[in-house]
Amino acid sequence: MESIEHDLYLNPICIGLLLLAISLWMYKRQGRAKLPPGPWHIPFVGNPWELASDPDLRKSLRRLHMQYGDIYRLYMGPKLAVVISGYEAIKEVFVKRGGEFSDRPDSLISTLIFENQGLHSTAGEIWKEHRKFILTTLRNFGFGKTSLEGKIHTEVTILLSKIAKQNEKPFQFLHLVQTSVSNVINAMIFGEHFKHDDPKFKKVMTLLDETLENTGPHNLVVFFPFLRYLPGDMFHVKMTLRNVKYVEGFIGDLIDKHMENFDENKIEDFTDAFLLKMKSARNQKDSIFTKKQLRKIVLSLFVAGAETTTTTITWAILYLAAKQDIQGRVFREINEIVGTDRLPSLQDKLKLVYTEAFIMEILRACTILPVSLAHTCSVDLKIQDFDIPKGTTLLPDIDSVLFDPKIWGDPEEFRPERFIDQKGNLLKPEEFIPFFTGRRNCVGESLARMELDLFIPALVQRYEFLPPEGTTLDIKEIDGVFGITHKPKPFEIRAIVRKKETN
Ligand code: HEM
Repeated sequence: MESIEHDLYLNPICIGLLLLAISLWMYKRQGRAKLPPGPWHIPFVGNPWELASDPDLRKSLRRLHMQYGDIYRLYMGPKLAVVISGYEAIKEVFVKRGGEFSDRPDSLISTLIFENQGLHSTAGEIWKEHRKFILTTLRNFGFGKTSLEGKIHTEVTILLSKIAKQNEKPFQFLHLVQTSVSNVINAMIFGEHFKHDDPKFKKVMTLLDETLENTGPHNLVVFFPFLRYLPGDMFHVKMTLRNVKYVEGFIGDLIDKHMENFDENKIEDFTDAFLLKMKSARNQKDSIFTKKQLRKIVLSLFVAGAETTTTTITWAILYLAAKQDIQGRVFREINEIVGTDRLPSLQDKLKLVYTEAFIMEILRACTILPVSLAHTCSVDLKIQDFDIPKGTTLLPDIDSVLFDPKIWGDPEEFRPERFIDQKGNLLKPEEFIPFFTGRRNCVGESLARMELDLFIPALVQRYEFLPPEGTTLDIKEIDGVFGITHKPKPFEIRAIVRKKETN
């Protein structure tokens, strides 16, 4: 007992000293380099307050960008981070020189949740091979194909009926849509569908939510990893580990079920395809297709796929309820092109120009990931005139592109028309990068676009979304919450069934 207590006291001190030594060495190295400009910082502490100076992370980023330009430095504890802002700088670093800046730094998420495995957290050859496998396999199981449309329609229909059960009373939209969106990923990965009231699945959703809320840049452990060794759980690290263990147990059970029933002549979902690859690679030394990798990759797809898409649909419903004129226009277009007797399909997308422009404007104006996932480089490099020492954390500021007045004119205004040209065709500006750009862009973009194109029009076709009776919604007053994603604070909404037109 005594020795355990002793260890608990020793660990933070030893780790603190080790970090101090590493920091001194890093400062000495960086002292000789010509680093990008940036705000002052306290040695070893850094300047974590810079990103936390406003509850809206985007405002802090905009202030720093204005003050220091497209490429500036921050310190996360002792660690150097360089923020890359503006489309041209992002293109230069992550597209033209993507090969040099596509590694991932150690971070709370990479190390703690993914144990440097799974797609998010790997780099080099492992990442390349896994990414290729994921893209090919998911494409085979439906990414961008109409075969997936049926599965998404099933989830849309269930969601519409769950909303009907709210009897036009105010309800929290997010939880209902989260289960439906997660079930689309379940269908592709496991061929499973979970009921909205399945207690185990509900718990998985809640734990993932809790985890993502607590591992964003606002958590001091992101800057000072040694804080996780302090007694208690002030920084929610133990909770995060408990949550991840539970979710991985859930994923592990589904993988085991697949292993028991595995038939190589019947490859029906992503897990089957991975198991087949594992089997064929069994005799290869150091195969990267292992059961643990599968668990972490599935976790990657769940974490990245469910939260982002759910958040986007939730913002869309909130904006529709706040902006009745836009909701009216979206509905009129759907009513004219699709009618109300069948669900909107992917074929309709080409004709639903205003609806599509509305979805694009949601992705732009709500900046679901204001800062993309962190990148790093594995050798010393230069960007423009600045030295970027190996291991620097590079933060791509997506918000700076999606809100650049030079690109959009009036970025603060919510205006779907900006994506429609004078002839009424949809515009796709290359600066529209909510899914990021370059070789490490979002692997699930096609799936996300399909889900948004099928869920949002179907919801508007069936329901009119309104704020609770006696209240009004001013979108400028609605705060977002910044975890890993930017999502709206919990809100209630009414869904009123649209009357069929009789004439
Ligand atoms: C509206 C929905 C979504 C948005 C806005 C979004 C956005 C992004 C962004 C900005 C990145 C970071 C790129 C980087 O800098 O490394 C990313 C990566 C990723 N996304 Fe998405 N995403 C969405 C939906 C999805 C879906 C549905 C899936 C999967 C089923 C998914 C899977 C991933 C994965 C695995 C990565 C990591 C890729 C890598 O490291 O190579 N995302 N996403």
